[in-house]
Amino acid sequence: MSTWYIESALAKTSRIILQRGILGEVGLEEWAPCGTPVVVIADPIVLDKHPHLETRLTQWAGPDSIYQLDISEATKNLTTVEKLYQEFGTRHVRRDTVVVAVGGGVLTDTVGYAAATYLRGIKWIAIPTTLLGQVDAAIGGKVAVNVSWGKNLVGAFHLPQAVIIDPQVLHTLPMRQWRAGVGEVMKSALIDGQWLWEQLNDSVPAFGSEEWDSLVEATAGIKVAIVNNDLEETASRMYLNFGHTVAHGLENYLGYGRITHGEAVALGTRVALALSEEVLGLDEAVRRTVEQWMIAWELPLTLSQGDWNAVFEAMTQDKKSRAHGLQWVLLKDVGHPLIYRNLPRKQVQETMERILSI
Ligand SMILES: NC(=O)c1ccc[n+]([C@@H]2O[C@H](COP(=O)([O-])OP(=O)(O)OC[C@H]3O[C@@H](n4cnc5c(N)ncnc54)[C@H](O)[C@@H]3O)[C@@H](O)[C@H]2O)c1
Ligand SMILES: [Zn+2]
Repeated sequence: MSTWYIESALAKTSRIILQRGILGEVGLEEWAPCGTPVVVIADPIVLDKHPHLETRLTQWAGPDSIYQLDISEATKNLTTVEKLYQEFGTRHVRRDTVVVAVGGGVLTDTVGYAAATYLRGIKWIAIPTTLLGQVDAAIGGKVAVNVSWGKNLVGAFHLPQAVIIDPQVLHTLPMRQWRAGVGEVMKSALIDGQWLWEQLNDSVPAFGSEEWDSLVEATAGIKVAIVNNDLEETASRMYLNFGHTVAHGLENYLGYGRITHGEAVALGTRVALALSEEVLGLDEAVRRTVEQWMIAWELPLTLSQGDWNAVFEAMTQDKKSRAHGLQWVLLKDVGHPLIYRNLPRKQVQETMERILSI
């Protein structure tokens, strides 16, 4: 079991608890003392596959307190946020209500954003149920939805009071969602460069194996450490965007939901590693290693279509583009990320084409 805390300057604390089976044991008393209204927003697929969890949530929140939100990357937008506001209104959500979000990163990002903005901010708890959510999305209080011209462009920093991580719920995860999660696991291994990197170099575990518990713990721990150093992403938290400049451009260019966020991160990671070789002299062996992991996990290494000019245009709409051009996270070495600006457009497009074309 691991318990971490993220402290913010606003004297708010986010407690992150990770333990196999914890959802069968933990109560909500600490965050919602008796009498506190609780509203649960949950993914219907998760409730369907985990009836015990549904029973547990009903015990916490009371009968009729669970709202089932059917959501995907394509509907991670302000229309869904408005639907949530309406639901909050119908359920008489007050300043002291605690909202519990149960699902993948799309759901926790969207519910977290609704909680950040409704009544100028209400308390929330995240229960991530995907690998990607458990190692990354639910931790650290960045909440957001997409707009047509860019991913996660409408958002806020709003720490959940608690993040309850139970790797046991992952056993029902479809293979494609495991793949999505490893996109972020690989990213964390590369920017951290310590135990996780060495572990993956030793063996690439099969999806669903119990070996994943320690990898989830290590990856979540890397995120907690980085967020604790730079909650509002003015410096080192930007390193978590490794691979994301291209990833967000690809997701926007292809249409939200056409590839998963994690697949896009994996492709973006290959490009970021190649650019790191060109600009910072990173050893090509690093990319070769990552490509071997991607092959083992059956992640796509290339795209069947690519108008690199259009992908670049989509990238410049991304939130990481600043007044002085696109902002890149590159690697000098494993564990040594750097922020890099002013990469020539021609070089970026040529590298994307070289690396991602079939
Ligand atoms: N806020 C952050 O810091 C942050 C960080 C990384 C990613 N993200 C965001 O996370 C999102 C991606 O999240 P995701 O990869 O979790 O995708 P997702 O939320 O779309 O979930 C993927 C699918 O898995 C299903 N699912 C969820 N839990 C399940 C379970 N236990 N068993 C079976 N099926 C289950 C869902 O119904 C969904 O169909 C992106 O929008 C990305 O921008 C946010
Ligand atoms: Zn990501």
